[in-house]
Amino acid sequence: MKIKIDGLECEANYGEYILEVAKRNGIHIPTLCHTDALPGQGSCRLCIVEVIEGGKNKVVVSCLYPVTNEIEVLTNSDKIRRMRKNIIRLLAARAPESEHIRKLKEEYKVPEEKRFNVDKGEKCILCGLCVRACEAVGVYAISSVNRGITKKISPPFEEPPEDCIGCGACAQVCPTGAIALKEFEGKRVIWDKTFELVKCSVCGNYFTTREQYEFLKQKYGLEAEEFLCDKCRKKSTAQKLVF
Ligand code: SF4
Ligand code: FES
Repeated sequence: MKIKIDGLECEANYGEYILEVAKRNGIHIPTLCHTDALPGQGSCRLCIVEVIEGGKNKVVVSCLYPVTNEIEVLTNSDKIRRMRKNIIRLLAARAPESEHIRKLKEEYKVPEEKRFNVDKGEKCILCGLCVRACEAVGVYAISSVNRGITKKISPPFEEPPEDCIGCGACAQVCPTGAIALKEFEGKRVIWDKTFELVKCSVCGNYFTTREQYEFLKQKYGLEAEEFLCDKCRKKSTAQKLVF
């Protein structure tokens, strides 16, 4: 079906989210808690857009609003920019140390905060993406703990998580750079836990932690004893198919 986004006619599949259609057509809608790798959860509200349907306007979160009619969408109307500015203002009070949020603050000309308390030193907006990524890997090493203003993301008992395999999926999906992951001298440190990195037996590049490799071997029933990075594994599989 056809929908209009910012005046551009776009082809959309029934049930497809507005954000997906916009992306496919090169229309930028800012997001924080969205990743293509996981189902949407609509927690940051940054991706709001105006939808005109049956002569009525409404504001929806584009990452979770499915197209079911021939609608018109405005991603950057005055109303949306005003509302988004307020959302960014709240996010900036919550996570003032996040570089990404600072840039949004500049882009939307959000003034320095005088009214709300600012969580000094904070980068996390509590979107929960990291927890869901960890669950999707199948590890469950971190979760959201406490309530209200003390709510945060943490391993159990705020100690280096026993179950963590150091895959770094949480840090990769975090939209605000709130999870520190450091690599040096063949080691990776995340959640205050230090992992030994292993080198690919073919190309010699460090590519994963020993714990992650063992985890994946078990999960997918890999038999190989040698350590192969993704690139070299694909190459070796392709060679086996050809010869
Ligand atoms: S650490 Fe990052 S991904 Fe996790 S809740 Fe905070 S902002 Fe979201
Ligand atoms: S990206 Fe849609 S609500 Fe966060």
